[in-house]
Amino acid sequence: MYTLGIETSCDETSVSVVNNGTDILSNVVASSLEFHQQYGGVVPEIAFRTQLETIVAVTDDAIKKAGIARGDLALVSVTNGPGLLGSLLVGISFAKALSLSLRIPLIGVNHLYSHIYAGYLKEKQVRLPFVGLVVSGGHTSLFLVKDFATIKTLGQTQDDACGEAFDKVAKILGLGYPGGPLIEAIARQGDPQALTLQCSGTQQPLNFSFSGIKTAVLYYVQKKFPRGIANTRAGRQMQADIAASFQESVIDTLLEKSFHACKLTKINRLVVGGGVVANMRLREAFEKRAAQQHVEVYFPTKALCMDNAAMVAGFGYQLFKRGARSNLSLNAGM
Ligand code: KG4
Ligand code: ZN
Repeated sequence: MYTLGIETSCDETSVSVVNNGTDILSNVVASSLEFHQQYGGVVPEIAFRTQLETIVAVTDDAIKKAGIARGDLALVSVTNGPGLLGSLLVGISFAKALSLSLRIPLIGVNHLYSHIYAGYLKEKQVRLPFVGLVVSGGHTSLFLVKDFATIKTLGQTQDDACGEAFDKVAKILGLGYPGGPLIEAIARQGDPQALTLQCSGTQQPLNFSFSGIKTAVLYYVQKKFPRGIANTRAGRQMQADIAASFQESVIDTLLEKSFHACKLTKINRLVVGGGVVANMRLREAFEKRAAQQHVEVYFPTKALCMDNAAMVAGFGYQLFKRGARSNLSLNAGM
């Protein structure tokens, strides 16, 4: 069953064709990142205007690359939240039009759940149930995935998302946007023990908090380098040390909470998804801990960590198989 996936929750316009939920025939991603970089973050107006302009061409490209005809499509799956409202509406409106004109069913899917599904897409042998961790630019959540249609939230961030903290700390260090890959790169030259940075505790042990550690970095940099951290050799070494200490502390928190969730639920399978999982240091640390604690851990490929429509098509297919349907009143939400 050929499913067309559409993902427009943030700055990407992505369309994909997936057969039977796991066989990716095409996965086209167009990003408007270069237009946002000069502003140090995603500008919603620019994002949805670019999506409006590109969605038809990206869809044509995805169908062509899949080597099928438009008439072969049997289902349209679209992200309907959470995300930027204008951006979501571009994808949803386009998906409705396709569903109506091709006379095929429509299904709206949750963006976070589809990030978890990205790990399943790569590792088709992952068995249900599993614990899912989503670490992206907008969200940080732990889920109990008993089945794709019954996903329960175990914990979530109380303030900043994990990727957001990477982006903000990179900005404080004068590194640019998006911050995650820049912090990861510079942290390789840094000493993670150079200073003590810790993520704040939370009342509920499976929740997260990343805003305190970001503020600690801000105050430290303002105090030690009032004229800018990147202007001296000592400052440049300190950029690397702060990046390494921050990254290590964030990874420690993600490890603690995720493996605690496995222990509490007595499930020894963990699937991790979202943009931050592109971080190699994080992957290594999870793999090491997983081996120590006899937990199976699964990650998507790097391309499937970032926002993409293959995970939307695949997850939509799974929901459809379980009887879920949307109609033309589908709206942005969640
Ligand atoms: O999942 P995603 O593509 O978009 C959202 O749904 O938010 O995630 C984007 C986030 C950004 O905050 C970015 O800085 C972070 O993922 N990211 C990383 C890395 N690559 C991307 N964070 C840490 N290390 C990386 N290598
Ligand atoms: Zn995302």
